Amino acid sequence: MTVSSLLSNGGKLVALGLLLLTNPVAEVATTHDVRERISLNPGWKFKRFEENPDDISYAKLKAWILPTGNNFIKDSSKRPVRPSAQPPSVSFAEPRFDDKSWESLDLPHDWAVKGPFLTEKYSIIGGGEGRLPIHGVGWYRRTFTATRDDVTSKSVYLDIDGAMSYAMVWLNGNLVGGWPYGYASFRLDLTPYLKAGTNNIAIRVDNAVASSRFYSGAGIYRNVWLTKLSKTHVGQDGTYITSKDVSAKSATLDLVVAVENAASKKSEEVEVVTDVYVRDTETGKLGDKPVASFPRAKVTVKAGEQESVKSSLALPNPRLWGPRPSQEPNLYVAVTRLLSGRKTIDKYETRFGVRTLSYSGDGLRVNGERIYIQGVNQHHDFGSLGSAFNVRAAERQFEMLTDLGVNSVRTSHNPPARELLDMADEMGILMLDEIFDTWAVAKVVNDFNLIFNEWYEADLRSFIRRDRNHPSVVIWSYGNEVVEQRTGTVGYNVSMKLKSILREEDTTRMCTLGANNAGPNDEFTSSMDIIGLNYQGEGRGDVGPLFPDFHKNFPDTMIISTESSSVVSSRGTYLFPVTPGNSANVSAEGFDEDNMHVSAYDLYAVPWGASPDKVFAAQDAYPYVGGEYVWTGWDYLGEPTPFDMARSSYFGFIDLAGFPKDRYYLYQSRWNPTVKMAHILPHWNWADDRVGEVTPVHVFSAADEAELFVNGKSQGIQKKEELTYRFRWDEVVYAPGELHVVTWKAGKPWANATVRTTGDAAALKATTYRERTTIKAGGEDLSFVSIAVVDAKGDTVPLASDKITFSVSGGGEIVSTDNGDPTDMVPFPSHERKAFNGLALVVVRAKSGASGKITVTAKAEGLKAAEVVLTVE
Ligand code: GAL
Repeated sequence: MTVSSLLSNGGKLVALGLLLLTNPVAEVATTHDVRERISLNPGWKFKRFEENPDDISYAKLKAWILPTGNNFIKDSSKRPVRPSAQPPSVSFAEPRFDDKSWESLDLPHDWAVKGPFLTEKYSIIGGGEGRLPIHGVGWYRRTFTATRDDVTSKSVYLDIDGAMSYAMVWLNGNLVGGWPYGYASFRLDLTPYLKAGTNNIAIRVDNAVASSRFYSGAGIYRNVWLTKLSKTHVGQDGTYITSKDVSAKSATLDLVVAVENAASKKSEEVEVVTDVYVRDTETGKLGDKPVASFPRAKVTVKAGEQESVKSSLALPNPRLWGPRPSQEPNLYVAVTRLLSGRKTIDKYETRFGVRTLSYSGDGLRVNGERIYIQGVNQHHDFGSLGSAFNVRAAERQFEMLTDLGVNSVRTSHNPPARELLDMADEMGILMLDEIFDTWAVAKVVNDFNLIFNEWYEADLRSFIRRDRNHPSVVIWSYGNEVVEQRTGTVGYNVSMKLKSILREEDTTRMCTLGANNAGPNDEFTSSMDIIGLNYQGEGRGDVGPLFPDFHKNFPDTMIISTESSSVVSSRGTYLFPVTPGNSANVSAEGFDEDNMHVSAYDLYAVPWGASPDKVFAAQDAYPYVGGEYVWTGWDYLGEPTPFDMARSSYFGFIDLAGFPKDRYYLYQSRWNPTVKMAHILPHWNWADDRVGEVTPVHVFSAADEAELFVNGKSQGIQKKEELTYRFRWDEVVYAPGELHVVTWKAGKPWANATVRTTGDAAALKATTYRERTTIKAGGEDLSFVSIAVVDAKGDTVPLASDKITFSVSGGGEIVSTDNGDPTDMVPFPSHERKAFNGLALVVVRAKSGASGKITVTAKAEGLKAAEVVLTVE
């Protein structure tokens, strides 16, 4: 086995008998003395209780929970001490508790997503939180084995990447600790309660009603790991690599390694050795030899303490990390080993990138190149899959966004899964990494305000330490529309306090807040490194645009729209008349209250928002603005503004099932203008009573000139005026037949497009996402199969709502179905779903041990069935 193949396994399970050829002294590592990271995702027993089943709560056990955050409390005198008294016992946490009748499942898991939807007007969970049963107490139990050696000479940790929320953990009946913020990743030291043989782990999560403004998901929805380490090891997220003096010839890398000695008595001297490898962008493999090595350093760490070891090196000819498409996301991996004598006792990998960032009055520069932010806000859920993290689902979201030209994502309004940032590093996406939606003043009664004072420091420090080596992270955000922005000096002081913590943990990036209410003259605004404006920059209603006012007061400060637009629409739904303006208020027009749909002409925004067209015009009129983060890229669960009775949002330019809305092409025409595309709306399948009625036709394209034909008759040539972004023929009169558009750019033919009145639905047509017809067994890989209802010619029938029945053969399993309709209350796991405006989606996985072929079949009454065959890899 070569060093590169050993190192490229993501550090999940370190290889045995490793002989590191790169080192002059032979350093021997065995299975007993290097890091093991074991997935604890499989094999849990689970039960959810709608009411509190155990008479315990965070409030009751807080004294035992708070010390879990102690590694992140700077002032040691403020670190809570675990009470010497035993916490009240709870039967669910007892090893002998009989959980046979509980549900068996694997993590990541979101208990709420399977529904049913709570459709009553005043149901306990309303539209805002997605009408799904996120509330209640969930208990998770499983066992794992430990060896005598683990017990006597190891530190054994439980790493939970995210549990919603108020997680508390017991090992063998002993309360170990916990972490309330549901988006945090945290570590618990199991060692004191570990025994040789079978160990029983029990985790309680508690999700309150009104704990979030949007769908939180529920349960242990991210990965869980068992990490076994030598007593002396690299601490949790314990490395920090930064670069400076970057030129084509060299870059100075500064490294800090936190070495932790968890032994109770013995201090230990270790040598810290860190080699830097190039990571191949295509294969992800590391080079055979290190390209640089940090000077070795010896350190003695006393029992129970931690020491930081600093070193620097000059990296020759650095391959820079930068955003696509103009730059390449080159990555390095620093492999840190701790040596005790000749023995390697820990090996830890840190992925990082070398790049420069600068922020100024005209925006962001990465490696000296100004990068205009073409960004989107993204919530953490995956639609019908809920919040349970899944790499394939996240990849699909990112791929569809970058195809359109998105170069940046804001993780509104909470820390993402670790894997999402890895993905952004690899894909060259700039991340605005955000931690909080609320500080001390509530937005909804049970949100973060309840724990802000006790947890903000631990949450903020652990968040930054977790994410600061990711080159993709270019901006931190420590709040969104916090109520404190209107509280004068009080709010300013909170902001400065949080910012100073952030600065202590990372000196290399600037930070922002999403401000919808802090004005250009407010003290609060001056607390921001980067002025992040929600909606007010481009103008809200009749007020604004306010970019010039902010820029006048803060000429050297980068200004971005941390949120823009908030246009709402239902894919494929068009309502008349169409507003003549370039942006309208959806509370007044453009909606169908009976059916709870919003017109997809994409001109109708929430009262505080604006159409994309209006946002683009403001961004272009004030070219110093650094860019925008559209609210939102994908639709998400909850926040079904303007219809609280619905279950998911109307904001995305991609719907909840992953089907692009018309707006997708409007953003593409601006953000990826080399794509030769023309997109026509609306569909041309209107009922007889529209014949002869004015039915405006709009076209999205990067072209600058276009001619529309209705049944062969020209409707005139249009040129794009300055600060306009769509072609619109608002006087077109409907007659069935054909719309055809011909476009030109700079006088040369660009793209043509046709929309026809279709025939009746005749068949179903199935396609796999990106024509990917292979699937890996085991459940983590997913296949996204789209079904279109088509006529005899194969054209999608735009208003078809046929009920489709899905089935799979072989080792396949249907995970969920969807259609992108925010009003559809059929539970996501259902194998039957109506098409929404011609389309539906089925998500399939291959069971563990599956092999051969999986056939996915879609049937609907009176229509020819469709199938796709997936090959299990
Ligand atoms: C903003 C808020 C977002 C979302 C959006 C919808 O005010 O920050 O979280 O609610 O409105 O328009």
